[in-house]
Amino acid sequence: MSPTMTETLEARPRTGLGFKTMRATVFHGVDDIRVEEVPRPAAGYGEAVIRVTLTTICGTDVHILRGEYPVRPGLIIGHEPVGVIEELGPGVTGYEIGERVLVGAITPCGQCLACLSGHLSQCGHGGGYEALGGWCFGNTINGAQAEYLLVPNAQANMAKIPDELTDEQVVLLADIASTGFSGAESGEVRIGDSVVVFAQGPIGLCATAGAKLMGAALVIGVDGDDARLAMSKKMGANVTLDYRKVDVVEEIRKLTGGGADVSIEALGTQQTFENALRCLRPGGTLSSLGVYSGKLQMPYDAFAAGLGDHRIITTLCPGGKERMRRLIETVRHGRVDLTPLLTHTFPLDRITDAYDLFSQRRDGVLKVAIRP
Ligand SMILES: NC(=O)c1ccc[n+]([C@@H]2O[C@H](COP(=O)([O-])OP(=O)(O)OC[C@H]3O[C@@H](n4cnc5c(N)ncnc54)[C@H](O)[C@@H]3O)[C@@H](O)[C@H]2O)c1
Ligand SMILES: [Zn+2]
Ligand SMILES: [Zn+2]
Repeated sequence: MSPTMTETLEARPRTGLGFKTMRATVFHGVDDIRVEEVPRPAAGYGEAVIRVTLTTICGTDVHILRGEYPVRPGLIIGHEPVGVIEELGPGVTGYEIGERVLVGAITPCGQCLACLSGHLSQCGHGGGYEALGGWCFGNTINGAQAEYLLVPNAQANMAKIPDELTDEQVVLLADIASTGFSGAESGEVRIGDSVVVFAQGPIGLCATAGAKLMGAALVIGVDGDDARLAMSKKMGANVTLDYRKVDVVEEIRKLTGGGADVSIEALGTQQTFENALRCLRPGGTLSSLGVYSGKLQMPYDAFAAGLGDHRIITTLCPGGKERMRRLIETVRHGRVDLTPLLTHTFPLDRITDAYDLFSQRRDGVLKVAIRP
């Protein structure tokens, strides 16, 4: 296992009314994020403010930092918050100041056509559908890598955390677990299925755990990093394959007796997408989680020229308080433990070091806990 680096943060009692600024991670431009003092948010109608007690960094934040996913300069980034309710705006009921809550990376309004038809992640904010519309934190509105966070549509998005669970046990549910599990759920994995997960980064590892939760008989994790392949076994893979060493499609065909029932793509490249298609049995499902760029090609032989009864389905991380509640229950009842994925801890003031470690994948890092 990789070494764990723990940093302790000086106690800083910055709560309470009258304290009008906060520390936050602000995006200024490509490769330029800074922790600085900014105005503290206040809750308006339907909103809440939480004091963030734990958050983390997502691979998507690294894309933002590198300028590969554009956001406006001045935005506070981050989208994985655990915190304590500090302020409740008018119209938010059933909560109390001081309660500990988990808020998903995706914050649907719960009112629009997309939300009401079950596509919460494509929330239209009171209107129809908007692609990726549910992803607001650290994208279109200020995010979670800060001491305080304004939660929009708070009534639909704050899930209470039972006292017996620590922040560390639930923080990864906000994004990577919700996303990874959804890969298996959208793929409609059934008891007894064979499932292959391409890439064992944080998302793929959670997809591996999700496949096991859904009842897969055989889970095959594919990656090229020894530490991640070892973690894949810990998260539920029976078999791991190193794509650098074997022909993975051929190997999977052998292991599954002709092709997998479900493949989950968790990287977002032509190679892994194509392998995920080629390793399926006729009628199998490719459940895609990766974020792609450029053109994706579909060679005719990889899907029986379009006649193989294959299903290809994509999913954006599911959010909203009911999703978070279900994931919390899954942890609370011991069905899954994600804490092994939190390999490092940093105080908020050293988040740029955490970005450096995380983006360079040094020291066996998987996810970093950031404690404001
Ligand atoms: N659908 C969603 O809602 C959602 C949410 C978050 C992230 N994502 C996307 O999910 C993908 C994975 O994110 P992550 O943070 O886990 O990624 P990561 O970069 O941390 O991990 C990628 C892994 O892929 C492995 N890899 C590289 N080439 C490979 C190959 N040919 N075959 C198998 N494995 C290979 C690497 O060794 C690494 O372990 C990204 O595209 C990310 O943008 C999607
Ligand atoms: Zn994310
Ligand atoms: Zn909506």
